[in-house]
Amino acid sequence: MKRLLVLAAASVALFAQAQTYPGTKPITLVVPFAAGGPTDLVARQLGEAMRKTLPGSNFVVENVNGAGGTIGATKVAKAAPDGHTLLVWHIGMAATAGLYRKLQYKPLEDFEYLGMINDVPMTLIGKPQLPANTYRDFENYIRANGGALNIAHAGLGSASHLCGLMWQSAVNAKEAMTTIPFNGTAPAMTALMGGQVDLMCDQTTNTTQQIEAGRVKAFAVTTAGRLNNHKLLKDYPSLQEMGLKGFNLTVWHGMYAPKGTPPAVLKQLNEAMKAALKDPEFLKRQEALGAVVVTDKRVDPEGHKAFVTAEIAKLKPAIEAAGKFAD
Ligand code: MLT
Repeated sequence: MKRLLVLAAASVALFAQAQTYPGTKPITLVVPFAAGGPTDLVARQLGEAMRKTLPGSNFVVENVNGAGGTIGATKVAKAAPDGHTLLVWHIGMAATAGLYRKLQYKPLEDFEYLGMINDVPMTLIGKPQLPANTYRDFENYIRANGGALNIAHAGLGSASHLCGLMWQSAVNAKEAMTTIPFNGTAPAMTALMGGQVDLMCDQTTNTTQQIEAGRVKAFAVTTAGRLNNHKLLKDYPSLQEMGLKGFNLTVWHGMYAPKGTPPAVLKQLNEAMKAALKDPEFLKRQEALGAVVVTDKRVDPEGHKAFVTAEIAKLKPAIEAAGKFAD
């Protein structure tokens, strides 16, 4: 009898929790890179859409920079599991698992997986003064001058870092370029447009407008095929088309809560997120920048976690082949 009473009390408490969440306290979306970059953009646009699908919610974005996104991820892994501190992160969740030997959290154990958001292609871009206008010119220029050039990224294990490593490995660049880390690809883009760095590989959500405005030069996309559905990006070849067989890199984004967040809260968040992914305004804004909103089983926690588990295994050899490790 006592056990029944305890179970009844627990379920009443859980029900009450779900009824009161999110309450008046804002929900913080931690973005582990600088404001204005592609990760920040996804979080802000998703937060705006979820305000409509999670009644009474108020989302705020907090940029917690550093160490390729792992400092922000650590903050969320150690946050109170009350549904008020969430992480919006990308392929770095998997890439850093293979790059960093001393993470302060376990990627597959210290988070509740809330579902995936989108898949974003990347573009190889250069400063306006770069003496190349086609991908072929670009690759020949890098082969001839690689050792004297620098490539920007958002820290070890960031998407831009991973892409730069994979591309240099794929073209067998003789001398590695100097890598210049930034707190995100927003400041990196500013440096590129100003000619302070030579090239970068970054997500279309951050590069499309700059390419269109002629503030940077674009040479190729990193997806297996061309982005034929995009009015601007369709004109750029894929790296695979340019002879880099098998090159296929897309930056996926997901949302996470600290382990131990109540199931009723997780369910509310996942349902609100899935509804937000169908929001016409969210879809329009994402598609305009080349992003593809997730519609498959990765929108559910189980599918999200299974996908990231597979990505960790897939990326490890690619990172080791590029021979770069960071503690
Ligand atoms: C990355 O390269 O990982 C991202 O573009 C970083 C960012 O969102 O600024």
